[in-house]
Amino acid sequence: MTFAAKILTLYPEMFPGPLGISLAGRALAEGKWSCDAVQIRDFATDKHRSVDDTPAGGGAGMVMRADVLAAAIDAAVPENMPLLAMTPRGKPLTQDRVRALAAGPGVAILCGRFEGIDERLFEARAIEPVSIGDYVLSGGELGALVLLDACVRLLPGVMGAPSSGDEESFESGLLEYPHYTRPAEWEGRTIPEVLRSGDHAKIAAWRKSQAEIDTRSRRPDLWERHVGARVQSPSGARQKKEE
Ligand code: ADE
Repeated sequence: MTFAAKILTLYPEMFPGPLGISLAGRALAEGKWSCDAVQIRDFATDKHRSVDDTPAGGGAGMVMRADVLAAAIDAAVPENMPLLAMTPRGKPLTQDRVRALAAGPGVAILCGRFEGIDERLFEARAIEPVSIGDYVLSGGELGALVLLDACVRLLPGVMGAPSSGDEESFESGLLEYPHYTRPAEWEGRTIPEVLRSGDHAKIAAWRKSQAEIDTRSRRPDLWERHVGARVQSPSGARQKKEE
């Protein structure tokens, strides 16, 4: 089954862009996924082909018009396809959401530009607003590429060694453990002895503890959730956390 990506954008030439090379590019050439970028401007109806207008209530910049975007959606997005809109006002993208999308028929992504999208569009169509992080990009296209990259690498037969997906960051709610490779000594620094011991149980325990140490210091938000999940009783009621 082909994972279908449908992107609604003012810059279709940005797709597949970097996803046309390497792992995703090979998968695209092999038909494991498809990438169809639709020009939103083709659905404008006035003689200037305008897709935006000034914000109601005043203020800086321009707002994308609901009528033009709805026409693009209704013409280009199949009923069964989840429809996401890239916006810094969206819910943060997670590996869980990526995994669910990758398991489905594909995804349609509306790329916002200018100051934003007329809010009535979100009320009138089933659109999930998604953000890729707490910073502002000049448009949703790079966010769409990020989301597609994360989905495509999970498609069956795309990732070289499937097992490398199971242990990686976020799959267990923790950051992944650190990696090392040859040379055994570099600039006076050696590889942790345990990794050269051949003792697989000891190596697994060391990796788990490193993942915990790094998550705790770099991502206290993930660590809190991880610890919270561990003190959840079987009935689901929260118990008092240990210090
Ligand atoms: N468009 C502009 N900023 C964005 C962000 N952080 N995530 C998704 N789309 C965006």
